[in-house]
Amino acid sequence: MRSKVIAGNWKMNKVLSEAEQFADSVTGKLPKDDNVEAIVCAPFPFLPSLVEKAKGSKLKIGAQNMHSEDNGAFTGEVSPAMLHELGVTHVVIGHSERREQFAETDDSVNKKVHAAFNHDLTPIVCVGETLEQREANETMSQIETQVQKGLEGLTDEQIGSVIIAYEPIWAIGTGKSASSADANQVCTYIRNIVKNMTSENIAEQLVVQYGGSVKPATIDELLEQPDIDGALVGGASLEAESFLQLVEAGT
Ligand code: G3H
Repeated sequence: MRSKVIAGNWKMNKVLSEAEQFADSVTGKLPKDDNVEAIVCAPFPFLPSLVEKAKGSKLKIGAQNMHSEDNGAFTGEVSPAMLHELGVTHVVIGHSERREQFAETDDSVNKKVHAAFNHDLTPIVCVGETLEQREANETMSQIETQVQKGLEGLTDEQIGSVIIAYEPIWAIGTGKSASSADANQVCTYIRNIVKNMTSENIAEQLVVQYGGSVKPATIDELLEQPDIDGALVGGASLEAESFLQLVEAGT
């Protein structure tokens, strides 16, 4: 039985004092239930303080990106070693905003996924299609390429511990969520791709999230779907109350 994983992706929002207030509001109220994990993926400057505040609670802290190299002449970048030493446990890799605005490719995603495992970070690998691709019936081929290339060269055990977030790009921040049945269909497809790359057992372990305009009002229906194991949530993860409602839905 897979746990539900609710991850907030704050993107470039909040200042440190607001991030700290959020942590103070949620850490004591998260459900004790072991069947649900709660993660906040925050901007880099907030990570040390959030990790400190989350200690002893169920809240885990993730980053939203990182470089694939351990160190070097990469001005402005943050390495996986830096994140690991801080106590960060998860890292979002290949979010569509990074693919579109910062020229990330399946190849750079793959390098970062390997780097995450080399530093004991769990990668949350984002895949998804544009509206044009969906309308041209290219959703599944697009997803297949992103999953296969993103996970290339990993061991079966590593693949089983990746979190894949299916985020149709047209649903991100638009208020237009995919229907739960459509989202589930793609999540099932992702599990099948992983099954073909590894085995049925590994595919059954894999956590597949849906992301794109998820809200407290829509999460129950999504989580009822057999192949949706959680959500990667932008806007609705910013307020403590709404984040707590999303996590509660996973119990
Ligand atoms: O990473 C999160 C996704 O981009 C979804 O963002 O919930 O604001 O649509 P959203």
